[in-house]
Amino acid sequence: VTRETDDFRTRFDRVGAWISDYYRETRTYPVLSRNAPGDVTRALPAQAPQDPESFDAIFADFERIIVPGITHWNHPRFFAYFAISAAPITVLAEALAGALDVNAMLWRTSPAATELEEVTLGWLREMLGLPSAFSGIIYDTASISGFTALAAARESLGLDIRTRGLAGRPDLPALRVYLTEHTHSHIERAAIALGVGRDNVVKIPCDRNYAMDARALAARIDADVARGMRPMCVAATVGTTSSTASDPLGAIAAVTRQRHVWLHVDAAYAGPAAILPEFRWLLDGASAADSIVLNPHKWLFVPIDLSVLYVRDMPLLRRTFSLVADYLITPESGVRNYMDYGLQLGRRFRALKLWFAMRAYGVRGLQSVLRHHIALGQELARWIQAEPQWEIAAPHPLSVVCFRHRPPDAGDADLDAHNVAIMDAVNATGEVYLSHTKLDGRVVLRIAIGNERTTRDDVALAWELLRKHAGASAPAQSVGS
Ligand SMILES: Cc1ncc(COP(=O)(O)O)c(C=O)c1O
Repeated sequence: VTRETDDFRTRFDRVGAWISDYYRETRTYPVLSRNAPGDVTRALPAQAPQDPESFDAIFADFERIIVPGITHWNHPRFFAYFAISAAPITVLAEALAGALDVNAMLWRTSPAATELEEVTLGWLREMLGLPSAFSGIIYDTASISGFTALAAARESLGLDIRTRGLAGRPDLPALRVYLTEHTHSHIERAAIALGVGRDNVVKIPCDRNYAMDARALAARIDADVARGMRPMCVAATVGTTSSTASDPLGAIAAVTRQRHVWLHVDAAYAGPAAILPEFRWLLDGASAADSIVLNPHKWLFVPIDLSVLYVRDMPLLRRTFSLVADYLITPESGVRNYMDYGLQLGRRFRALKLWFAMRAYGVRGLQSVLRHHIALGQELARWIQAEPQWEIAAPHPLSVVCFRHRPPDAGDADLDAHNVAIMDAVNATGEVYLSHTKLDGRVVLRIAIGNERTTRDDVALAWELLRKHAGASAPAQSVGS
């Protein structure tokens, strides 16, 4: 055992040194992996080794085969999708959680994991200005948080679906879920998984800022009820994936409250910004919601995965999922057994990394990084606005900017391909990675700022590369104009 622990110490030191170098030198890696499909597979043997291999051999292959196949999400110039960070302190917490190998399914299977989850989510709730009526629970992703919330919404209808199921039930009305074309697809996938069916997922029109039209929502719900259908849930988004638009929570909550429809708020990306007093408004109206999701793994500097679901009615969530096998019955009362509140039994000790992050930054530290990201986003938007051949494509209240290059005389039809060509050329440099989306059917480019180590120089380099490659890939019509 002594020998093994000595080995562990040496190896951990080596991994620690590697991680420390990685943080220092991240910018030397190409952000987007340059691998071709199959490169990693071809470099690996077809079968598992029969005999033990040395740490040196494994680590050498990690560096030789795995690292080149990594797209560096933790790179300060990763600007695609929603940029994220694994802050170094939280990597240490992950190592500790791995060593403890806790399965926090029951309170007694790790009281500290359960209680730390309650405490950290209580802190976070207060930081967000949410009422204490909400209780929190950690899942892996917003997709699972959203699915779980919709399952509770279905259970809240009192249709006894938990026991009797959906099939062969002429008494059941069609269950309806309301969202917009900008709602993240996990809500529709949850509707598929819960037997609601895609035909009952209703897309409410948006205003010109890509936010849900609450009056259209009210009219649609009323029309559905008049046809004998049963509204199950309205999914509102704070910070849509494409453009970070926010649906008007106050007006939507007025609609759902009056009609007794479950309101789910997906604030996966933008929710953390509500810890800034000047962005509290993002969650205005959320206190009337039934469930709210935000992802600390998107914008609170903990590594993937950690998503938080706040629900108003925890006993209902428990009723939705709880089935306790004899061998899991424990004598403690008044404790939370988190296995009762979702599909999974086993659970990682995720709260540890959130606790490390909250303590190492403090609320003020977290606020200052978020403010820095938002300021960088606003500065980038000003640079874009100042150039006549570039246009801003959507409002940008936070740290994501949508834009496109529009040279004079370029036809609409060519602009999509032109902007994709610019993006591909910029990404091929390996210096930065950005992604695109479609707004009003048109391709727009997106820069999402969210890595805790991103500097103004990083954003400036992305902008410089965009300008350079836009010049090099002008659409045919504008050449020579
Ligand atoms: C608004 C929004 N909701 C939900 C999700 C899904 O997140 P997750 O990967 O945690 O399931 C995303 C992903 O980017 C998102 O942007």
